[in-house]
Amino acid sequence: MRFKEDFLWGGATAANQCEGAYNEDGKGLSVQDCMPKGPRGPVTEGPTEDNLKLIAIDFYHRYEEDIKLFAEMGFKVFRLSIAWTRIYPNGIEEEPNEAGLEFYDKVFDTCLKYNIEPLVTLSHYETPLYLAKKYDGWRSRDLIGYFEKYCRTVFNRYKNKVKYWLTFNEINAVLISPLLGASVLTPKTELTKQDIYQAAHHELVASALAVKLGHEIMPNAKIGCMVVASPVYPMTTNPEDVMSAYEKQRELMFFTDVHVNGEYPHYTKKLFKDYNVKLDIREEDREILKHTVDFVAFSYYNSKCAAADESKYDYVSGNVFRGLKNEHLEFTQWGNQIDPIGLRVILNHFYDRYKMPLFVVENGLGANDELVTDENGNKTVYDDYRIKYLNDHIVQVGKAIEDGVEVMGYTSWGCIDLVSAASAEIKKRYGYIYVDRNQDGTGSLERYKKKSFYWYKEVIATNGESLEY
Ligand code: BG6
Repeated sequence: MRFKEDFLWGGATAANQCEGAYNEDGKGLSVQDCMPKGPRGPVTEGPTEDNLKLIAIDFYHRYEEDIKLFAEMGFKVFRLSIAWTRIYPNGIEEEPNEAGLEFYDKVFDTCLKYNIEPLVTLSHYETPLYLAKKYDGWRSRDLIGYFEKYCRTVFNRYKNKVKYWLTFNEINAVLISPLLGASVLTPKTELTKQDIYQAAHHELVASALAVKLGHEIMPNAKIGCMVVASPVYPMTTNPEDVMSAYEKQRELMFFTDVHVNGEYPHYTKKLFKDYNVKLDIREEDREILKHTVDFVAFSYYNSKCAAADESKYDYVSGNVFRGLKNEHLEFTQWGNQIDPIGLRVILNHFYDRYKMPLFVVENGLGANDELVTDENGNKTVYDDYRIKYLNDHIVQVGKAIEDGVEVMGYTSWGCIDLVSAASAEIKKRYGYIYVDRNQDGTGSLERYKKKSFYWYKEVIATNGESLEY
């Protein structure tokens, strides 16, 4: 048996990509309500009709039906995020919004009714718009205090319902997209490395503060950090390329290094010198950073290749970080390279470095699905391509466990179709459950089980024994 009996099988979502109800029951606007095209498109002054996230898949009104479907698949865990703006609409209020708190009470109660553990992300790219506008997001130290207040509120409220927490989703994404990763509204082209690493520092302190608070309020809670993970391969065996790949890998590991070791790693001295970065790190920040995480969680969608002279090669887009094209790998319809073995590589890499429980909290295939009618007259999707992708990746998790890596669980991304983060599209589907909503916003919002729904149900029921190795 590769997967332990208590392995946490499940799926993952984020509030802004599935809840909708963007202005109901006192919710304030988040940055996502003004990103109709995703972080690469223009940020609008206010919500616009072309923003699919305003309704998304209407999880806000359909959570009972959706969680029941997750339970039918046998989920042990459901990863979701709390929309900060449901709790503190602008981030600055003295008192929280009771209606927002009640919504998550109902969601968690529904999970627990089905013996599903909620795994809650505190901040999944959905900072209050007010804070983004007033402070240019996490560039300001003031956000730490507002975030602390929000964390204190939700920890106190849900301490008897939620045991597993994540602080910031993909905290290292700030390096690539300061808008997505840190709600910085100033265009990236106008930001220096100094600006970006200072915003990252504020988030790192806020993350450690959340860990500190969480442990004080909920002594039995498990609180993890969450990063985009990607092994970085050298393009050739030329030692120059190997060194370059090593350095790029380290830049990605910087965030987990701080979270696990409780201090800035030795190599940042040179890195920051090279980048001309002089951070405002206060003595109290250093004390807070010492509050380290209980586990390391990450998303995995693709590996990366790097070279000393990258101008000789073609780039390919990654889920967040781009890299050089790897001739050995196939592509998804959205141009991501598919590398299941990379997941085993990065699991081993993390475990060698940290000896700490790991949690794969995102992985999955975004694809165009075709809804068809089966021989019994039921609507479904024959998504064998998704089954193959997931099978191949979970198999590598199994192999990493055989290697000796401690893996707590696996939550595939977008277990129900939702709006994508990078491009705000609904046609890029990840789910086991099809949601009838089209790119133009039309659709009944009805849910239909895909072929992968039954496949994953079997994987969970057999604790991974049904996987094809
Ligand atoms: C991760 C994010 O980067 O990738 C998710 O944490 C996101 O929010 C997922 O949805 C898949 O990316 P995309 O752009 O296809 O939605």
